[in-house]
Amino acid sequence: MCLSLRHMERVSGLGVGPLAAGTVGLLILLKVIQRLRHKQSVQDKVVVITGASSGLGKECARVFHAAGARLILCGRDQKRLQEVVEELGNKNSVIQTYTPCTVTFDLSNTSVVSSAAEEILKCHGHVDVLINNAGISYRGNILDTHVSVQRDVMETNYFGPVALTQAILPSMVDRRTGHIVVISSVQGKISIPYRSAYSASKHATQAYFDCLRAEVERLGLQVSVISPGYIRTNLSINAVTGDGSKYGVMDKTTARGSDPVDVARAVLKAVCHKQKDVVLAGLLPTAAIYLRTLWPALYFRLMASRAIKEHRVKEE
Ligand SMILES: *[C@@H]1O[C@H](CO)[C@@H](O)[C@H](O)[C@H]1NC(C)=O
Ligand SMILES: *[C@@H]1O[C@H](CO)[C@@H](O)[C@H](O)[C@H]1NC(C)=O
Repeated sequence: MCLSLRHMERVSGLGVGPLAAGTVGLLILLKVIQRLRHKQSVQDKVVVITGASSGLGKECARVFHAAGARLILCGRDQKRLQEVVEELGNKNSVIQTYTPCTVTFDLSNTSVVSSAAEEILKCHGHVDVLINNAGISYRGNILDTHVSVQRDVMETNYFGPVALTQAILPSMVDRRTGHIVVISSVQGKISIPYRSAYSASKHATQAYFDCLRAEVERLGLQVSVISPGYIRTNLSINAVTGDGSKYGVMDKTTARGSDPVDVARAVLKAVCHKQKDVVLAGLLPTAAIYLRTLWPALYFRLMASRAIKEHRVKEE
């Protein structure tokens, strides 16, 4: 009796433990296989990057160039774009790399975007990946902000990417392949005080590209929205203020932000793994995104205190 009980225990112990471990192991293995199977390389792919002469755009240019992409770099300043091209050319690489093309235009002027798109399409005849990166930041109190500034930020951050995407989209639909990436922000998911124009433009961006993703999936196209937190770039120095002048200050939050190289690598990963929505932020901002949905009253309370604190700092 005693013996048979012990025997049964041993049998059940042998059965459940390894079975559970085996199942978990199998699931992990399947996940890994799935990831590898869906992983795509950007080698030889035609990749367009806007805002490529500085900050995150320039880092994306480095990362995608090193991965063997055929780049088309866009920006307002031909000289600075050319400097980026020269910088990239000097690196030796184990894989085949290509000298990028450049297309110079002002993304915030939607009347020039369609001719710019034609020029982009002429470089290699098609576009595989469009990375809408260019953008401008804003700092200011709504009470002191001209409506024209609200509109200008929207032109660059929202209508610019929308116009360029819609100009490139038909060529992707014709080929039944293509990937559209947009660099949004955590502020596209939650608003924080004194960033009205920026947050609003990024919320609009998130909404538009979520719609686009749903509409073009049946046509074989991919859409990725990347939402980083603060990145260590000149974005805050170049930010506009309520009267349209330059902010000119490197914020502490920006100086302590993520390394643009890490963000650029995450963009490459999002493209290779066809990730749909990527939040690249620390625990606190990520928690705030959930709080806004699950406990809005507390979120509003926290933002109001933050506004009072920032207002006090500005007064001093
Ligand atoms: C940021 O601005 C400074 C000063 O204008 C400049 O020297 C630096 O190269 C810029 N950095 C980037 C990443 O564009
Ligand atoms: C937009 O581009 C057009 C054509 O080049 C130009 O005539 C117009 O002045 C530009 N608008 C702005 C606001 O720069």
